[in-house]
Parts: sequence; structure tokens; C-alpha cells
Amino acid sequence: MYSDKVMDHFQNPRNVGEIENASGVGTVGNAKCGDIMRIFLDIDEETHVIKDCKFKTFGCGAAVATSSMATELVIGKTIEEAMQVTNKAVMEALDGLPPVKVHCSLLAEEAIHAALWDYSQKHGIQIEGLEKPKSDIHEGEEEEEEEY
Ligand code: FES
Repeated sequence: MYSDKVMDHFQNPRNVGEIENASGVGTVGNAKCGDIMRIFLDIDEETHVIKDCKFKTFGCGAAVATSSMATELVIGKTIEEAMQVTNKAVMEALDGLPPVKVHCSLLAEEAIHAALWDYSQKHGIQIEGLEKPKSDIHEGEEEEEEEY
């Protein structure tokens, strides 16, 4: 059911933990399953390069694996490049996820965006394509749009 890469990142997640005095912190939840994701970013203020990224989660295996991969993908990238790290890109890097687990991968993307938003607010900068984050990935959704 899960690819080898998903199993690897689930069993040996990379970049778990917190960053003290992080440049940006973002937390999002998924009210449907009760899972929560928090992302910490350390960003170079001159170059806007993400020097470090860590995550903490109270989430399922797919959320752990996608967040682990997402942190690896954004480290070393500029803020603008990190905006391209969508949940789709993360899933591709993991060789796919079962359809019912796709929403779990949104936690990582949304939490990274929330952390970038936090950074942009603290520094009074605008990040192209970044909107005010939701605190829950299902916020504003109609019930019947959910596919399970
Ligand atoms: Fe909640 Fe996966 S089931 S994030």
C-alpha cells in the first residue's frame, strides 16, 4: 500500500524537532482526524535561503512521511523556491500516496506556508503567491466536497 520511500520516511523521519528562536513557526490542524503539524524554519535574512527546517507532529504515518520529505525538499531553497514545494511535489518525491491519504500531505504544505507567513509578518515582507494561512486544512470547505 505504501511505497518504500514512504515507509522509510515514516520509520526514520528526517528533521524531527524544534528550532529555538526560529525565523518562522507555523501550525495547522486537520479537524477531521484531529492531527496537528508544526513547522519551524530558520531563514537567512540576507539571502532568504532556508537554512534549516524541523517539524513536530501529532499526526498519522502519512503526515510524518510527507513532512519529513517536505523538510528535506525546502532546506537549502530560497523562500520563492520553497513556495513551489507543493503537496503534489512532496508526494511525487515519495513515489505516491494512497488516495485516502492525500489530505495528510496537505498538513506539511500548509504548515510550511504558515511558517513562511509568520516570517513575512515579522519582517514586513511580501511573499509572492502566499496567502494568510488557514489554521485547519478543511477551513472554509463545504462538507459535501469531502471525498473519503
Ligand atoms: Fe490525519 Fe493523516 S489521518 S493527517
